[in-house]
Amino acid sequence: MSQERFTFPQWTNLALPAMAIVGATAPLYVAIVVAYGFSPDTLDVGHMPEQPIPFSHKLHAGELGIDCRYCHNTVEYTQHAAIPPTETCMNCHAQIHPQSEKLEPLFESYETGMPIEWVRVHDLPQYAYFNHSAHVNRGVSCVECHGRVDTMEVVYQHETLSMGWCLSCHRNPEPHVRDPKLITQLEWGIDMSDEDREIEGAHWLDVNHLNPSQDCSTCHR
Ligand code: HEC
Ligand code: HEC
Ligand code: HEC
Ligand code: HEC
Ligand code: HEC
Repeated sequence: MSQERFTFPQWTNLALPAMAIVGATAPLYVAIVVAYGFSPDTLDVGHMPEQPIPFSHKLHAGELGIDCRYCHNTVEYTQHAAIPPTETCMNCHAQIHPQSEKLEPLFESYETGMPIEWVRVHDLPQYAYFNHSAHVNRGVSCVECHGRVDTMEVVYQHETLSMGWCLSCHRNPEPHVRDPKLITQLEWGIDMSDEDREIEGAHWLDVNHLNPSQDCSTCHR
């Protein structure tokens, strides 16, 4: 831990009540664990909430081969990957299955202008900072963090999203980076040996001058 760079960021305010209880001298770690509990929602591997429309990634991203970025079109530019608006679905479903019962909430949303209420699957705590564009533009594929979404009938949380999980890749990124052009090719690399995969990763780390940070202030700002 690099002491000189660790100033108390804004998120520590959230832990102040807990700090008052355990005493100002108690380690920050204790304060946060008390404030948030030992197993926050984000550790919920397999979390698969029911959605208002039975939307299948296996069908759309897998069988139909629609690129992730057609729908999640901000993923390369911003912190968050946008969930597509009703209009994106209507580009096809104005013609395809216009009578489908499963799509009734879609047509209703289109008529009323009220967005579909998709339920969040992933949700990091506020005190942790994550940014999609910083990863995908540097050759970290969706598959590294979300698994084979293109084979999921219903999308679910594939990884813990814990700090230890983030750091395990930041410490040892070789097996996890690729040519940034291939970030949405989820099946790429699965037939490679571990050794070849690391050589490939090392190549792209070098080409793009990557050096993932382990400073607290990178993810807690
Ligand atoms: C045709 C549009 C479409 C395509 C293509 C698509 N998605 Fe999605 N995605 C959605 C919609 C709608 C949701 C919200 C409903 C749900 O969770 O199933 C979603 C949800 C998700 C979630 C969960 C978000 C959350 O709430 O945490 C992830 C992760 C995801 N998509 C990844 C991908 C990946 C990776 C690809 C490419 C392999 C992809 N998506 C392709 C429309 C799409
Ligand atoms: C390095 C890990 C990582 C990669 C790579 C990654 N994601 Fe995510 N994704 C996350 C995390 C962590 C969250 C939860 C973010 C939060 O709660 O603030 C998330 C959330 C999402 C969401 C929900 C909306 C949001 O941004 O909170 C969607 C949709 C999504 N990811 C799609 C994608 C797609 C599509 C790709 C590839 C183009 C991708 N992700 C690549 C880690 C990743
Ligand atoms: C690029 C075109 C395209 C887009 C965009 C698209 N779909 Fe589809 N969708 C299809 C096709 C093609 C089928 C399946 C046709 C078949 O084989 O029955 C389908 C099937 C479906 C079904 C099954 C319908 C039934 O009655 O069986 C649902 C539900 C669905 N889509 C929801 C969505 C939602 C929600 C969105 C927006 C997030 C979306 N689709 C975006 C092309 C698309
Ligand atoms: C599979 C590998 C992998 C995982 C998992 C991962 N990261 Fe990263 N992360 C990277 C790489 C590679 C970079 C780019 C490093 C560079 O640009 O030198 C990066 C960069 C970042 C940056 C710097 C963004 C900037 O503005 O420069 C932040 C913040 C970050 N990661 C947060 C997280 C968080 C939070 C998690 C866990 C929820 C996480 N990462 C999980 C590989 C990963
Ligand atoms: C690569 C990103 C990343 C870095 C670097 C990082 N953290 Fe975290 N940290 C996270 C994420 C993500 C969580 C939330 C995990 C969860 O939901 O359980 C977290 C959670 C925490 C928590 C809450 C308790 C826990 O263990 O889950 C504390 C305290 C914490 N971090 C302190 C630190 C300190 C101190 C440093 C520097 C030594 C640091 N973090 C560096 C991503 C990071």
